[in-house]
Amino acid sequence: FQFAHPVNEPVLNYAPGSAEKVALKKQLAAFKAVEMDIPMYINGQEVRTGKTVDIRPPHEHKHKLGHFHQGDASHVTQAINAALAAREEWANTTWEQRAGIFLRAAELMATKYRAHMNAATMLGQSKNAYQAEIDSACEIIDFLRYNVHFLGEIYKQQPYSPQGIHNRVEYRPLEGFVVAVTPFNFTAIAGNLPTSAAMCGNVVVWKPANTQVYSANVIMKILIEAGLPAGVINLVYADGPTIGDISFSHPDFAGIHFTGSTGVFQTMWKTIGSNINKYKTYPRIVGETGGKDFVIAHKSADPAVVATALARGAFEYQGQKCSAASRAYIPSNIAEEVKKILVEQVSSFKIGTTEDFTNFINAVIDEKSFNKIAQYIDNAKKDGQNIWVGGTYDKSEGYFIHPTVIETKDPKYVTMCEEIFGPVLSLYVYDAEKFEETLALVDSTSEYALTGSIISTDRYAIDLATKRLTNAAGNFYINDKPTGAVVGQQPFGGARASGTNDKAGSMLNLYRWLSARTIKETM
Ligand code: SER
Repeated sequence: FQFAHPVNEPVLNYAPGSAEKVALKKQLAAFKAVEMDIPMYINGQEVRTGKTVDIRPPHEHKHKLGHFHQGDASHVTQAINAALAAREEWANTTWEQRAGIFLRAAELMATKYRAHMNAATMLGQSKNAYQAEIDSACEIIDFLRYNVHFLGEIYKQQPYSPQGIHNRVEYRPLEGFVVAVTPFNFTAIAGNLPTSAAMCGNVVVWKPANTQVYSANVIMKILIEAGLPAGVINLVYADGPTIGDISFSHPDFAGIHFTGSTGVFQTMWKTIGSNINKYKTYPRIVGETGGKDFVIAHKSADPAVVATALARGAFEYQGQKCSAASRAYIPSNIAEEVKKILVEQVSSFKIGTTEDFTNFINAVIDEKSFNKIAQYIDNAKKDGQNIWVGGTYDKSEGYFIHPTVIETKDPKYVTMCEEIFGPVLSLYVYDAEKFEETLALVDSTSEYALTGSIISTDRYAIDLATKRLTNAAGNFYINDKPTGAVVGQQPFGGARASGTNDKAGSMLNLYRWLSARTIKETM
């Protein structure tokens, strides 16, 4: 049995008058015209508690998109019980049937619900149309199709059987339930974490960030329409500590698939460690956490290439990507030219709502995030850092922060080291003759190791950077921005404080959701 080899879902361009643009505009208006009542989904049932939380676009807080129903400890327990009740049948459902469900979901997202997926992401998470398209259309579709392909390849791997012996490996799911805790910044990641584990035959309790519930609801409805059986993925909106307390002390807890902050991940790990005697099996702990992603330019680099990599890498989706360029090292010989082009590009970015497709910069996700980013900017000003562009913000209508470039004379200044998760790029101009020393600085400045890039036309410099920065980035880019990994092309993830490096969108990740049984039969 073989599925066709996937290809990446084409990125539509939303040109004026295009069919996709007309459909998307219509869906944005339709979503804005009604207040959506969003339930939890437990055992295939919609669950409403009456305790609701409002959802508003980050770029327009006076508008109400709807609300979701918040659950408590009893709903988490119900979700776990539903998952465990569904487990045996799901684990024994044929691979062809399981795969068919996820391929159908991908097809529904690519066609009938593409505009729903994108409009929900644009309104709920303040992503512009292009950023939504590469996330809530292409990337999530690619995750589903490629993971089906990769898992099919894994199932085919069988051991050697000599004369008189029959050996085989059964790639079983884990014994228990998996918890998926997902972030706001990529609808694709939110969709990938529960589905990749479920595809392997696991049952899942899924808790998305409150700020992504609006698009999570669209994903869940599509999975149900595609035929996902009741109880396989249960979507609950209880607060993190409640989910953690109940799930991580349950004997059938079998794994956590997490994307979010380093602090939360470490707390989870400690809790799981302290409960280790309670579990039937050692839980799988898979997490992608923060980043402090670098761009280092060599003296041979074209200043325009450097400036464009920085403008896009640092400011697309307001810098709210764990892969975003947030610290840059510019050689003195091209610094003036890089500054001129970068400031010109960044000043030309239009800022505002996502419904106006000419805006490049939209709002940051919520008030907490806004205040944190604004504080870094204020402190930089107080500390006398040199602001090349930006440095202002306004939350009267939405959480808008002007893209900000800070030049510092101290390569270990706080904005060069800490993850800000917003539209703030810090930059250090180094002596163009001290490239090797600067590579050592790049490697030692941050505890994170997610993404990074080298920009250079000198092959020796590229090779040296590739070697010296071996452990500084799980995804390393040569002559490009450090964002925008494509499923099936650049498996994504980092080590050190950035996570367990179980590359999303690859076999490495899927292996973590399997518990293989080897069978030897002597004839
Ligand atoms: N995969 C995204 C990127 O590469 C980040 O999560 O930008």
